[in-house]
Order: sequence, then structure tokens, then C-alpha cells
Amino acid sequence: MKLLVVGSGGREHALAWKLAQSPRVQIVYVAPGNGGTAQDERLRNIDITDPAALADFVERENVSLTVVGPEAPLAAGIVNLFRSRGLKIFGPTKEAAQLESSKDFAKAFMKRHQIPTAEYETFTDAAAAHAYLDAKGAPIVIKADGLAAGKGVVVATTLDEAHAAVDSMLADNKLGDAGARVVIEEFLEGEEASFIVMVDGKHVLALASSQDHKRLLDGDRGPNTGGMGAYSPAPIVTPQLHARVMREIILPTVRGMEGEGIRYTGFLYAGLMIDAQGNPKTLEFNCRMGDPETQPIMARLKGDFSKVVELAIAGTLDSAVLEWDRRTALGVVLAAHNYPETPRRGDRISDIPAETDTAVTFHAGTTLADGKLTTSGGRVLCVVGLSDSVRGAQSVVYDTVNQISFDGMQYRRDIGYRAVNRKQNDRHG
Ligand code: AMP
Ligand code: GLY
Repeated sequence: MKLLVVGSGGREHALAWKLAQSPRVQIVYVAPGNGGTAQDERLRNIDITDPAALADFVERENVSLTVVGPEAPLAAGIVNLFRSRGLKIFGPTKEAAQLESSKDFAKAFMKRHQIPTAEYETFTDAAAAHAYLDAKGAPIVIKADGLAAGKGVVVATTLDEAHAAVDSMLADNKLGDAGARVVIEEFLEGEEASFIVMVDGKHVLALASSQDHKRLLDGDRGPNTGGMGAYSPAPIVTPQLHARVMREIILPTVRGMEGEGIRYTGFLYAGLMIDAQGNPKTLEFNCRMGDPETQPIMARLKGDFSKVVELAIAGTLDSAVLEWDRRTALGVVLAAHNYPETPRRGDRISDIPAETDTAVTFHAGTTLADGKLTTSGGRVLCVVGLSDSVRGAQSVVYDTVNQISFDGMQYRRDIGYRAVNRKQNDRHG
């Protein structure tokens, strides 16, 4: 069978790589793909991004099913369009994708269904927002309602910063329509984890737990990015916490959406903040898999993923089982010069070590032209290493990273440090 993955990042490379391992899959098209998906013989890039043109392609080429990577096509209704043409696709409809595409929708939904999350208010009027900030004080969090490609959240440690964020979104319109409405919410303390599940409208299948590293620099310093590295499993998500997140967050979300007449299908990603007592709250929902979380998660997934996606599209996810490699997978993102501000493009990338049983490199912002691989985006590559321990995975991954180079390459050297610290604390306490 032939499959299609929509998107061009590291997440999509990892999804396509995994799907292509199925003996029944001949080819996975990736639209538009990147320099890595261009090199893999089981994958083929197609230079189409328009959803209607993609549906035409799927009909013409008899593609059996489509998996959508990023949020933008989902929020634009690619699932609605494919379904209206009788094409099999895994992802949420435009209506269901509002859990990510509108923070106000997500917050009001969580409130209606008593799903644990930070206290909040929504504003369109700058004066009212400023007054609310003064009443609440800092630290406080300001979020653009709409999709803002990772630039929509300001965690303000001072009231000055908070007022400036409100002005930039509501008064100066810096984020356009996405920032014409803002959510202002309580600052939550704790440790974050990514909780990602597959949903078929009714049934839920949890993927392995993971943890991202959002800041650019070691020790979680520097600006927020799309994610500088991730590993799976995340030891903070104990079996008890897993059960609680399913019971208090995931299942009420899926049932709540169904009850409101918006069946949720697709990947559902709850970004969690877990406080010192181990209580989880929902920071945000994403209607897709995480990037870079997907890369270590797919590296650990065993079996035929195409069958699981097929069951999900058919609404019979209750009969699917996922098997995981017991090892820890740890992914380190290699980013371009000047990421996340204005990443430089066009730097030549050295040879990348071939995939082994313990290391695989997924591409994101890369382009292959005339046999030469160059950088073409902020997050360029994600190297994943597998080992029995987090430290072991770090050692495999950084050994591989040391064999790769391009001008301006920057990466964190401490991915997985929380899991390492946790292990040490467990031993000593
Ligand atoms: P988001 O785009 O919603 O994932 O937010 C980006 C990052 O901002 C999150 O990963 C958190 O690190 C941080 N963040 C978001 N909401 C809060 C909050 N209520 N309290 C503390 N940090 C937050
Ligand atoms: N890694 C964070 C995200 O995908 O939203």
C-alpha cells in the first residue's frame, strides 16, 4: 500500500520512517518533505501543499491513508476536505483542532468539563487586560488566542513584561489576528511533560510518555524555541500519574468533545505541568504529535504502525496494542545559526552517519539539491540515540552529534538532565 504524510519537519520524517517499516507499505509520500525524506529509498517527496491538490494526488495514486503532521493544515480543515471526498485520513477536523487553534476555546472547554488547568480570563480590550494584570500581579502568563508558530506565549516574570506583552498583542497587533484576543492565566510551577495519545472519536490509545526541552540553552535558559530535544519515556510520568492523567484530563476531553458534537480524532497532545506534589494540570492541548517528541517516540515504537493508524481511522482503536522498545530514546536537535530569531539558511551539512540499531538522525530544516545537503530551517536535524539508561542514550547521541557539522550549528548538551537527576535523587533518597 501507499501512504501519505503531510508536513516537512523532523516529526514528519520520523512518522514516515516508522510507517515505511511495514512490510505491506510500498512507499510513503511526504508532502512536501525535506532533505532527509528525499534520501530515504522508501520515502518520496511530493511538492504539493494545497489540500485540494493533495486530495487529487491521493485519488490519482491510490494512496490508502494520510497522516497529518503539523497543526496548520488541520486548523485549515484538511481532514474535513479529505473526508468529504471519501479519503482516509488521520487527524482532527477543523472544529476539533480548535483545542489547539484557539486557546480561549481550549480554556473554556476545560472549565466546562472540570479539566485541571490554570485559572484564566480572556480579553480583547487592552485596558481591561492591563487592569487584570495589575490586580493579579506577576509572574503571570499571556497567550495569544490563535496559532502563532510558537511565538504566542509570554511567561512574564515582571508586570512590566506582562503589560508589554498585552500591548504588543492587543494594541500593536504584532501577532495579527492570532493576538487579537488574549488569554491571561495563572503562572504554574512544576515540571513539564508531554502526554500524547491517539483518538478515534471514542477510544484512546496512549503513546509512550516524553519530555521536551523548550529553551534554547543548557539548564533551561535562553529564549523559548519549538523544542531543542526530547526523550522517552519520561520517568516523571509514573504509572500512577499516567492513570490520573487519563482519568482527569484525556478521557474527559475526548468524552467532552463527543458530548459537544465535535468528535475528536487524531493525535491529541496534552502539555502537562506537574507540581511538586505530583498533581498534573493542562498547560495546553495540541491537536498533533509533538516535535521533537515524535522522534524518540517513533524510535521506540515496535510493530506495524500503519495497522494502528488504520484501526484509528476505522474507529476500532480499542483493538490496537502498542509495543515499546524498553530502552530510553533521546533526541537532540541541531539548530541553525541564529535560531530561533531568524535562522540562517544555506549552510552546507557534513555527511550524516548511517542509521544503526542505536542511533538514527531525522531531518527537519534540510534541503537536498544536486546531491548536496544544506540547512533550510531553524531546527535542522534531530539525532536520536537508544540505550538502556538515559546516560547511555546521551552518550550514544552525543557521539553521533560529534560526527555532524554545519556552520553555526547549535545544540543543547544536557538533554535528559531531569531524568538523570531524578535517578540520582531516587538512589540517594
Ligand atoms: P505553550 O505554547 O502553551 O506550550 O507554552 C509555551 C511554554 O510556556 C510552555 O511549554 C511552558 O513552559 C510555558 N507556560 C505556558 N503556560 C504556562 C503557565 N500557565 N505557567 C507556567 N508556564 C507556562
Ligand atoms: N515540542 C512541543 C510541541 O510540539 O508543541
